[in-house]
Amino acid sequence: EKGGWPSFMDKEIHEDPQAVAETLMGRFDLQGHITLDELHVSVEELKSVDKIIVVACGTASYAGLVAKYAIEHWVRIPVEVELAHEFRYRDPILTPRTLVIAISQSGETMDTLMAIRHAREQGSKVLALCNTQGSSIPRESDAVLYTHAGPEVAVASTKAFVAQITAAYLVGLYLAQVKNVMFADEIQEVLRSLRQMPQKIQWVLDNDVDVVKKTAHKLVDSKAFLFLGRHVGYPVALEGALKLKEIAYTFTEGFAAGELKHGPIALVDEGTPVVVIVPSARNRNVLHSKVISNIEEVKARGAYTITVAEEGDPDAEKYADTVFYRPACPTLMSPLVDVVPLQLFSMYMAEAKGNDVDKPRNLAKSVTVE
Ligand code: M6R
Repeated sequence: EKGGWPSFMDKEIHEDPQAVAETLMGRFDLQGHITLDELHVSVEELKSVDKIIVVACGTASYAGLVAKYAIEHWVRIPVEVELAHEFRYRDPILTPRTLVIAISQSGETMDTLMAIRHAREQGSKVLALCNTQGSSIPRESDAVLYTHAGPEVAVASTKAFVAQITAAYLVGLYLAQVKNVMFADEIQEVLRSLRQMPQKIQWVLDNDVDVVKKTAHKLVDSKAFLFLGRHVGYPVALEGALKLKEIAYTFTEGFAAGELKHGPIALVDEGTPVVVIVPSARNRNVLHSKVISNIEEVKARGAYTITVAEEGDPDAEKYADTVFYRPACPTLMSPLVDVVPLQLFSMYMAEAKGNDVDKPRNLAKSVTVE
């Protein structure tokens, strides 16, 4: 079933492009008009939505955090992202105009299931973004939009993550369309960028494997890693860190780059590996220059720096010991490519340590207990 790949995880990372392409397929026309008929929520109901709360766990919650940046920007309504188990046991503010989006690959995560039961009891509508047809979470939701990543076997989630971001983006753009808050040609432009992403992910897979593998082998004895990013690079840093914890069993901290001087920089010592997600170099905007100074700061304290950066970005190369390149793309699209070298990195690290890449210790593919 691995189709010649050494592990399911390797196979599934290489299916990232397809997961995005299949999730987009048939959901909009060439004029940029989105039709999510399968959602089964009325346009009237969607028009009235004034707040979104994403509930999810682990990797799915990081996909939700990426979507927050995009949906707030496009739709101009607040989006909160909350770990399902935290949401369930406090007293969240839920009204009939709150749309709760539950993101789950398996559709069987008990923490997420309990959260949506709670949300529906309080009168909110629940939309599931799920990869498994007929599973519990979509069955108990008001509406579902399936991610079409195909079955994911490896415990570490990879292709489901890019598919979740894609599906959440479609929901965001659809809301913008029904609420009439974006021009049709703006929506079309975003969809055009989204459609190019499978090809760009493929570029990363074709170009980065060797350098990522070499770097993983070089750093195999490192005791701890730091991952940092800003804006959508922040959830990507969290996801890259989670992957490394899960399968390489390495203590890893992911955090917002701006937090560095508020504490974590004290961890940086001679040789500490620090992975930094560098935003688009286009226009050399503020976001980009802030991240570049963060790299300088850790480099000055002896860090071994790995940057995930746009091809031909001279600043990202200047202070980097290693660069994992990605092709240029708009900021909101970059998580779809930036996560790919990090997925590969954790896999090569786990392999180099002799770990079972597909079945890491202490973990189950779906967590069906609270
Ligand atoms: O099936 P789900 O998407 O609901 O699972 C949520 C998390 O348990 C899952 O993403 C977990 O964090 C993965 N092992 C991450 O690789």
